[in-house]
Amino acid sequence: MARSVKFENKEGILYITIDRQEALNALNVSVLEELYEVFTMAENSEEVKTVLLTGEGKAFVAGADIQQMYEMSPKEGRDMAKLGHKVMNLIENMEKPVIALINGFALGGGLELALACDFRIASTKAKVGQPEVGLGIIPGFGGTQRLAKLIGKGKAKRLIMTGEIIDGLKALELGIVEEVTEPDTLMEKGVALAETIMKKAPLAVGAAKTAINKSMDVDSKSGSDFEIESFSSVFSTEDKMEGMSAFLEKREAAFKNK
Ligand code: CAA
Repeated sequence: MARSVKFENKEGILYITIDRQEALNALNVSVLEELYEVFTMAENSEEVKTVLLTGEGKAFVAGADIQQMYEMSPKEGRDMAKLGHKVMNLIENMEKPVIALINGFALGGGLELALACDFRIASTKAKVGQPEVGLGIIPGFGGTQRLAKLIGKGKAKRLIMTGEIIDGLKALELGIVEEVTEPDTLMEKGVALAETIMKKAPLAVGAAKTAINKSMDVDSKSGSDFEIESFSSVFSTEDKMEGMSAFLEKREAAFKNK
């Protein structure tokens, strides 16, 4: 069967594109499994430094596959949600940066996929929302958790409990995305962000990502302890010596990911 998740590595950036346009890139079980496979490869490959994730056509992802869910029992629904969480957790917890480029509809599981990424850049054509309650269900790939953590409980409840669909500028105002741009500059904005991060020390970038994620899951004392240990552990890297030497010698650092 043809694959729906396309990918290509160019100069350290892995471009992942969900291409199942006949269903506006909806996530069925096999697309979720493909995403898991491709992100596992991205995490383990030395050739991949940063990931850019987008959708082909007029959608980023229009949600979990309603056709497939229609037939599902509660047990099958649980299995689907578990698989969705497995994919989102993999993306959120990998050390490499992942940037979502929201080119069009990012609804339901599509917005949840974008929320698992580190950054979200939306095109002016983006339409985002969690319309699940209109289908008699709730967000099942982490939306009730990640959206509330990102924008606060009140705003998350309003979006999720009304099912309202908003545009990119409104998403920016709410803090769901960090940047909005014209459709023809979306990719270039994503590449610019990836390149900026790729100039920094990769182990430090990864450790910072992990420590920030930690702040969302643990009490502040445990989070501070985790930061102290991570701070100490990057002191043992060659890149710490390189970064500081470069500063003192007034030159550009050449990081080695070591
Ligand atoms: N699942 C399955 N198929 C979908 C789909 C989805 N989530 N979204 C769109 N499609 C299909 C449509 O059924 C249609 O297929 P046919 O041509 O075979 O009829 C095709 O994609 C094109 O869609 P439309 O004709 O509807 O396109 P449109 O431009 O008129 O409307 C849209 C676009 C507003 C996004 C509309 O398609 C829509 O509302 N889609 C559903 C969005 C949604 O409710 N998402 C949440 C799903 S539940 C979820 O995600 C649960 C979770 O948290 C895990």
